[in-house]
Amino acid sequence: MVTVVVGTQWGDEGKGKVIDYLAKDMDIVARYQGGANAGHTVIINGKKFIFHLVPSGILYPEKICLIGNGTVIDPVSLFEEIAFLEKNGIKVDDRLFIYENAHITMPYHKILDQIEDKFRGKGELGTTGRGIGTTYADKYGRIGIRVVDLLDDDVFYEKLKIALELKNYLLKEYYKEKILNADKIYNDYKEIREKIKKYIINGTIFINDMLSKGKNILAEGAQGTFLDIDFGTYPYVTASNPISGGSCTGLGISPTKIDKVIGIVKAYTTRVGKGPFPTEMKGLLEDTLRRSGNEYGATTGRPRRCGWFDSVIVRFASIVNGLDEIFITKLDVLSGIEKLKIGVAYKYDGKIYNEYPMNMKVFSNCEVIYEEMDGWSESISDIKEYSKLPTNAKKYIERIQELIEVKISAISVGSEREQIIKI
Ligand code: IMP
Repeated sequence: MVTVVVGTQWGDEGKGKVIDYLAKDMDIVARYQGGANAGHTVIINGKKFIFHLVPSGILYPEKICLIGNGTVIDPVSLFEEIAFLEKNGIKVDDRLFIYENAHITMPYHKILDQIEDKFRGKGELGTTGRGIGTTYADKYGRIGIRVVDLLDDDVFYEKLKIALELKNYLLKEYYKEKILNADKIYNDYKEIREKIKKYIINGTIFINDMLSKGKNILAEGAQGTFLDIDFGTYPYVTASNPISGGSCTGLGISPTKIDKVIGIVKAYTTRVGKGPFPTEMKGLLEDTLRRSGNEYGATTGRPRRCGWFDSVIVRFASIVNGLDEIFITKLDVLSGIEKLKIGVAYKYDGKIYNEYPMNMKVFSNCEVIYEEMDGWSESISDIKEYSKLPTNAKKYIERIQELIEVKISAISVGSEREQIIKI
């Protein structure tokens, strides 16, 4: 059975915690897209783990974790993550595996990502600077280096030289920056290439074999629907497909094998980096929400932009991902806000939009039509049963369910593993 977990907003919906919660019933957790731009946070007994590439299922000693072909892998960052896990007593050997056809983020990808984004000037995307877009661009430009290429001295050297010739031309002639030396990178990568060998497998065959043996697989998406390269707020998006469909191409499993799609929905909205955000708040309330929700990027530490819940985008996320159910996260952060608003439609140039418009001119300049609801004042972090929630919290949840037309199956009310209400 395959269950896919997707973000329904702009990422940072709390997928790390939900994946950790669901992983206990799974045999395998597999990441299907993105790279070290992601930051999935899991807190266990007060100890914080931030995952960038390794699936958070690794915290359970018996689970197998896969990093799929749809991801882009920065081996330097990967080994830093593995070292941190091992320092904390979590062994990854014999249960962490990497698809041989995933692409590698090289040093020049990171350098060029940062230079290119600065070069965009006013059109800066605010990328994480982790070389994500530049690695995917090379994948599609057919000059990428794949994990399997690391295994062969000649192939790796040849591919590195070809790619670097082009990158150095760009760096020197266009950006007027320092160039890189292929031999130095080749030598620097010797140790990494040796260390990574034991993790490399033919993931497609492995995962399909596991499926035929009846194993339970959790496909872990990173980022969120509105950072999707096709359906997100283009060009202010990441360079991969976080939507549920990405799990098929990013893990080599057929659409006919997907059994369930779970959407993770934050009880309000946040976004890191540039790009349109119609329900964004400004001022004191945003500061309060950022503080109580600890809304700072898990990868870059940047303050997240905060806003009201937008039912229009989450309804679209439900359609494009085919959501079967929803997990609401961070409901506790809304305690103490007197009046809550929910965006229900947009207005632009005299026209009402009930659906998410692909035209970014409309999405960037629209006025939001809100519904207002009474909030609740009490803390809800220790509540374990839905019936014990304050009446206004239940009304808020039920209104969201009505607007999105998808069943809410659980609510998270705190960052610890146990702080979850099943409905
Ligand atoms: P990139 O993925 O580094 O190319 O960045 C593109 C956009 O996606 C930027 O606005 C980033 O802030 C955003 N982004 C990338 N990864 C994440 C994430 O894991 N959570 C939230 N935003 C992200």
